Amino acid sequence: MTIPAPISVTGLNHSFGKGSLRKQILFDITTEIPQGEIVIVTGPSGSGKTTLLTLVGALRSTQEGSVRVLGQELCGAKPATLENVRKQIGFIFQQHNLLNALSAVQNVELGARVTGKISRSELRKRSEQMLIAVGLGERIHHNPEQLSGGQRQRVAIARALVGEPAMLLADEPTASLDKQSGREVVDRMKFLAREHGTTILLVTHDNRILDIADRIVHLEDGHLSTFTESVIANNRLMMKTLADNRKKQEIEAVVEELDETGFHNLLEEITDESQKFLKGTALANDMAFKSMLSRGLTAFTHKLGQLLNADRSSLFLVEGDSLLLKVARDIDDDNEIRIPLGSGIAGAVAQNGQAINIPDAYADDRFNPAVDKQTGYRTRSILCLPVKNHQGEVFAVAQLLNRKDGQPFDQADEARFAGFIESIGVIFETLEGLSIMSQRAGTNGSG
Ligand SMILES: Nc1ncnc2c1ncn2[C@@H]1O[C@H](COP(=O)(O)OP(=O)(O)OP(=O)(O)O)[C@@H](O)[C@H]1O
Ligand SMILES: [Mg+2]
Repeated sequence: MTIPAPISVTGLNHSFGKGSLRKQILFDITTEIPQGEIVIVTGPSGSGKTTLLTLVGALRSTQEGSVRVLGQELCGAKPATLENVRKQIGFIFQQHNLLNALSAVQNVELGARVTGKISRSELRKRSEQMLIAVGLGERIHHNPEQLSGGQRQRVAIARALVGEPAMLLADEPTASLDKQSGREVVDRMKFLAREHGTTILLVTHDNRILDIADRIVHLEDGHLSTFTESVIANNRLMMKTLADNRKKQEIEAVVEELDETGFHNLLEEITDESQKFLKGTALANDMAFKSMLSRGLTAFTHKLGQLLNADRSSLFLVEGDSLLLKVARDIDDDNEIRIPLGSGIAGAVAQNGQAINIPDAYADDRFNPAVDKQTGYRTRSILCLPVKNHQGEVFAVAQLLNRKDGQPFDQADEARFAGFIESIGVIFETLEGLSIMSQRAGTNGSG
């Protein structure tokens, strides 16, 4: 026997307004969320995310289609049925609706009281624990108006979670939280989902928390993407979010914050996407993707330097019979640095396809001090690796300069560098492919 999904939506349409002002907001939404699954809804502002959430939460009557929640059909349901469903759901909304006359802990207690399952003393204990869990242990007896927006949001979250609801509906729960508290809150949700089988439907713009989802669906102009479409949309959205992130936070800063695992995961995600491109699929003319890659490449290369404790890191591209310095800090695009193939350390790596690791550049006669002169930099140790394309040809060279502790790069550095370079190589190759394609498109367009 299969357990019916706690959320099952079929052919849902929803409109606001009357007569000529009537406007359809949701179109033929069909989706099912199994018990204990965390589903994230993404999508642009105004696409209907909150509307969908309020329909599933029995906060608004369903007009057309079927919305089955926790075993009840909501379309055409009596108010008592809707209320019964609502009682089993924890809500976290942007407007947190805390009662100002009550303290934080009393507000949290309200969340559990509606379910009526817990004794008074147990209720107080749990509510306090939940406030401690969201980082408000010191503010248990404060009233909402004595709390900041983010703190109030956390009280609302504690209130939604304290009754261990069968289902949690959350609209931008981390919007007003800093990175650390946002992470704690979603981890708490994930714990609930796993420990208690709580089904979670979560609307978010916050791409830092997308990783907790079992599934991400995408709403655009009231249409929910099918699974395959949403996979593409998700990736594109991620890319676009990353690309657009410049407004809020330079991609470099985003990457900067990642630890080695986080960085590795991000690279994997992007290289997957790049590989799809290389296989000739959808992303060919995606400017957002391209701009993300190109900005990303600089950030990634820099990040590599940081992770491997190098003073500098750079990427060269093989172009004809020379190497072109493509990515390095403090070198602008006009100041083109070219090295003949076979000359210098990078040139030698490009030619032989073998890594070179030298402790003292100036003592090595393959080293070409002219580049140092050009950049005004004093190189000591170098770790230089070939970057191979998917056909195994060296098409680029990656280089780390001057280990920060003054020691030469060792074998462990080389192994880690090589691991990352494999991913970065795919991204680089994709970017070059995209550049060549757009150049070609340009030529074809004018001729
Ligand atoms: N009560 C209402 N009456 C009329 N129109 C409404 C109402 N609520 C929402 N809308 C409209 O429905 C559309 C979808 O709104 P909704 O709040 O669901 O979007 P959203 O995806 O949650 O956006 P955001 O990311 O900005 O929160 C919008 O165009 C909005 O103006
Ligand atoms: Mg909304």
